[in-house]
Amino acid sequence: MLFILALNGLSHPEKARRGNVFGIMGMTVAVLATVLTVISNNYWVLAIGIGVGGTIGLLLALRVKMTQMPELIAILHSLVGAAAAIIGFANYLDPGTLLHFSGSSLLVHDLETCLGIFIGAVTCTGSVIAYGKLSAHISGKPLTLPARHFLNLLLFAVALWAGIAFVIAHNPASSPHAIAATGGIFPPLPGMPGGTVALCVMTAMALLFGIHLVLAIGGADMPVVVSMLNSYSGWAAAATGFMLGNDLLIVTGALVGSSGAILSYIMCRAMNRNFLAVIAGGFGTGGSHPVTAEEHHGEVMSVKPEEVAELLNQATSIVIIPGYGMAVAHAQHTVAAITKTLREKGKTVRFAIHPVAGRMPGHMNVLLAEANVPYDIVFEMDAINDDFPKVDVAMVIGANDIVNPAALTDPNSPIAGMPVIKCWNSTIAVVMKRSMATGYAGVDNPLFYRENTRMFFGDAQKSLDEVYRLLTA
Ligand code: TAP
Repeated sequence: MLFILALNGLSHPEKARRGNVFGIMGMTVAVLATVLTVISNNYWVLAIGIGVGGTIGLLLALRVKMTQMPELIAILHSLVGAAAAIIGFANYLDPGTLLHFSGSSLLVHDLETCLGIFIGAVTCTGSVIAYGKLSAHISGKPLTLPARHFLNLLLFAVALWAGIAFVIAHNPASSPHAIAATGGIFPPLPGMPGGTVALCVMTAMALLFGIHLVLAIGGADMPVVVSMLNSYSGWAAAATGFMLGNDLLIVTGALVGSSGAILSYIMCRAMNRNFLAVIAGGFGTGGSHPVTAEEHHGEVMSVKPEEVAELLNQATSIVIIPGYGMAVAHAQHTVAAITKTLREKGKTVRFAIHPVAGRMPGHMNVLLAEANVPYDIVFEMDAINDDFPKVDVAMVIGANDIVNPAALTDPNSPIAGMPVIKCWNSTIAVVMKRSMATGYAGVDNPLFYRENTRMFFGDAQKSLDEVYRLLTA
């Protein structure tokens, strides 16, 4: 109940804090209940584990920068996956398993073990690679090996076969003939329960599968991948819950699994990407590159802070479109101060938020909430996109891909079909960024060359400080 209330709270910034409190309460109850139901005289082992794990978690959470949040989430998913796989092995090696289960119940139990280990291992290595890509330790370019789909299929087929061989070899009721037919090449290990080698082979395939799956995905699709891995970690936990007969783990895992899947779907829709196409990989370079004059033969009109302040002073309706650059420059507080000043001058100021602005879902909403921007002037893209013809000034602050008209006009563009914020329909669009470099998807932006666009070059924080000074002078 507390976890469901937590999810419900997180659906709106106004209730998000309360949702977090419910989540913390739920987790505390879950950990306490688990500790109290463990009949053990080794409580100090648990205490050391919780102490060391809790301290590492606390230090990481305190140190992480807002822009590094997706990396942290990715690496934490890898721990959930590793935990599921390790618990699967521990449960399998526990001699009590063969005492408690037999016949069909052992079959079901072994299937749960296989599933928990497989999903856990895929999540573990997949998340480590996602972390590497997001933190730029690994290139954001998709690794497109010649027969990559065939390779995925092969890894999956071998894992499936080894899984079946394990289930049959582990069951004492299986006939030697069935064991030899499925697992003839997996030798039994002396002193170990049946199927050990087959289970290890299945795990190795799953680990490789996770690595190859995420290596093949380009930088621009990483947000979907992180939420997909989030979903996998939930399913791995749910499978572990079935294996251990732990209802709480089943419910929590299913909540995480399904909410992650829904989030992946919403993000795919926001980027107009087909979920299967994302998994198949191959799109997005993940690196910005400067656009040279030869690439684009347009004129760019740049403006100074004085001209921007003047445009804002003359406007009555203003829409601010924040993007990743606002997060990098930590400019949200200055943006909030400018908004307050403009509203005091009687102007209508609203915010337009793209679903994948920044580097994680809800990134902009969190930053604006932190700077105390009122929620009722913050609009989702779909709610405000048709209003731009009535807007005097659209201020794009450190955003690029989410305001790229090529997504709608150029069918050959890599981001073709992605819904974008149509700021060019306003009377004037002021685009604030440091250079002509591309954004996350590495795609050129024709918006910069339009007649009604003004480029305001510089670091968003410094530029906005200057505009604020001029507005309040
Ligand atoms: P981007 O397309 O990445 O553009 C951000 C722009 O900010 C850059 O072009 C950069 O240009 C500018 N910038 C960087 N630092 C700045 C600073 N200090 N001051 C001023 N400008 C600065 O960001 P977006 O428009 O928010 O789009 C998001 C992109 O990230 C999409 O492609 C999306 O698919 C992807 N993505 C999203 C997520 C989620 S879930 N939100 C997660 C991962 C990836 P200069 O270098 O010229 O300054």
